[in-house]
Amino acid sequence: MNIAIDLGSDRTRVFIEHQGKVLDEASVVTYDVDTQEIYAVGDAAYAMIGKTPLGIRAAHPMDSGVIAQSDMVEAMVDILLSEVCTVRVVNPRVVTAIPCQLTEVEKRAVVNAVSSFGARKVYFMETPKAAALGCGFDITSPHGIFIADIGSGTADIGVLSLGGVTAGKSVKKAGSAMDEEIVKYIRKRYNLIIGTNMAEACKKAVGCVYPTGVEETFRVKGRDAVSGLPRYVDVVSSEIMEPIKEIADNIAASIRDVLEEIPPELVGDVYTDGIILTGGLAKLQGMAQLVSAATKLKVRVHKYAPDCVIMGLGRAIGYIRYADKEISTGISPLLTAY
Ligand SMILES: Nc1ncnc2c1ncn2[C@@H]1O[C@H](COP(=O)(O)OP(=O)(O)OP(=O)(O)O)[C@@H](O)[C@H]1O
Ligand SMILES: [Mg+2]
Repeated sequence: MNIAIDLGSDRTRVFIEHQGKVLDEASVVTYDVDTQEIYAVGDAAYAMIGKTPLGIRAAHPMDSGVIAQSDMVEAMVDILLSEVCTVRVVNPRVVTAIPCQLTEVEKRAVVNAVSSFGARKVYFMETPKAAALGCGFDITSPHGIFIADIGSGTADIGVLSLGGVTAGKSVKKAGSAMDEEIVKYIRKRYNLIIGTNMAEACKKAVGCVYPTGVEETFRVKGRDAVSGLPRYVDVVSSEIMEPIKEIADNIAASIRDVLEEIPPELVGDVYTDGIILTGGLAKLQGMAQLVSAATKLKVRVHKYAPDCVIMGLGRAIGYIRYADKEISTGISPLLTAY
């Protein structure tokens, strides 16, 4: 049996061959700072962020699409997988996604993390490729596809053709950086201290990066920086645009940069089909309009945007036979196998 894992900065998703997506939990670990003993992982650990007592920390061990704390990621993957694999999978082959520009050391850390439960072999696929497969495209065809997967730690942009990435870029600031900007903004503007989970809820509820004319309100709850007492403020979409717009503009500008690098033979395809956005942050209000304004192309957000990468990796399991040369003809869109 083979497994696909999408180790996201925000969420970890697992797909088991012949079963489909079996897990989608927060990439968070709660642990004892001194002994490194793990208390919780996944959604249970996410709920503890900002609420842990002294000496206990709840943190995202993945940052900007790369592994920041390898031992924590390995433990998290092992615990999460043992929850979904009721029958212990014996030496599975694992397909996983990596950002376009990753160093050998970073790749090695991913291999260690996803093989912590005894994988036989690990196969990589660049995130934009996995996202395109998840959208249902035939990525081995010579037709050009322009896709951007915008998540929590990275925005992975790629132009695909014949099973490869012909132009691509990875931006290291996305959803979680916006949450941090909202925390800073609320502190500065209202003297109110809030946590990143509250900021994320605010971004999802009223965050907007392009004027859509819709003004919504969200109640932000926190602690007064002066009195120390609990307090709340009501914020509206237009003011939350201020702290998050720069990050969104930077992503849109990077998408435009990649557009300028497209080989001439593929330009026609991209102009006809436009750009497809996947990943959780693609659902942010105004994101598609912002990218469309920056590129003058039509932009579409996939209906199941946050799940495209894991569904694509699940489909990519079918290419393992090509990567292993069990079938001699045909393109393998999977990268180096370890
Ligand atoms: N409806 C929504 N509106 C705005 N933002 C959203 C929405 N849903 C999810 N997000 C944001 O999308 C991000 C998560 O996206 P995703 O699950 O694609 O990330 P990830 O795969 O874990 O991270 P990465 O691929 O960057 O390592 C978070 O920042 C989350 O707050
Ligand atoms: Mg992702």
